[in-house]
Amino acid sequence: MTDPYRTLGPGYSERRRPDPRLATIIEEALGDARSVVNVGAGTGSYEPTDRMVLAVEPSPVMIAQRSPGSAPVVRAVAERLPLPDRSFDVGLAILTVHHWTDPARGLAELRRVSRRQVVLTWDHTVVSRFWLVAEYLPEIAEAEADLPACDFISRQLGPAQVTEVPVPHDCSDGFLAAYWNRPSAYLDPTVRASISSLAKLDPTRVAEAMRRLRADLDSGLWQQRHGRPDEAGSADVGYRLVSSLE
Ligand SMILES: C[S@@+](CC[C@H](N)C(=O)[O-])C[C@H]1O[C@@H](n2cnc3c(N)ncnc32)[C@H](O)[C@@H]1O
Repeated sequence: MTDPYRTLGPGYSERRRPDPRLATIIEEALGDARSVVNVGAGTGSYEPTDRMVLAVEPSPVMIAQRSPGSAPVVRAVAERLPLPDRSFDVGLAILTVHHWTDPARGLAELRRVSRRQVVLTWDHTVVSRFWLVAEYLPEIAEAEADLPACDFISRQLGPAQVTEVPVPHDCSDGFLAAYWNRPSAYLDPTVRASISSLAKLDPTRVAEAMRRLRADLDSGLWQQRHGRPDEAGSADVGYRLVSSLE
């Protein structure tokens, strides 16, 4: 199995720091669960520390960045969880389902090993309207059109509820639309390197789009279209929490 996080992973824990406001939303979704299996756990972002947690993660590069004292980790993929049926109160999967080679099988496994499931993902229709995608890199929308959609995930989880996860203007977790109001952040190659949707694209195309973004920021065109950068608040840029209903 090739590990895309061999190239995406280094520096992940620095640029993808869990955001406290998103952590609160996830924490609330976990409710009174006493045990959590975090599948596609990466470096351990959003893992609660006040209950029993087991992390499942295939990439050694990501596992190596877990902090000492973080939850124990099993090296495995979602599609084959080496865990007994219903052994956890909640199965958690954060910004990972789109990486799974067989999302239907991975979600079935998540459902098998846990009584309830909480998945953080995004709605492609909304993300495809995000300015970076719509105006600079529409190939992201094309490349992601076949990734598991929110309604697919909710169907796999049985009855599930989908809720909006607004992204704060100063979000510390640098995922694709995290910098919706900090456009110059995307000009930094180290920021782009920890965003899989960007890192997967043809580097020549990305460079060309970034030249255009820089020129639009310098000329004020971006500001004319989108307002003042760095304004406070939060925005719906497509992130969604899918929580199974018991
Ligand atoms: C964007 S990272 C998210 C990591 C973490 N959940 C977070 O919120 O920071 C996606 C993670 O999914 C993992 N992953 C990729 N394929 C997987 C699979 N088939 N099963 C489980 N995890 C997988 C990657 O190695 C990576 O750590």
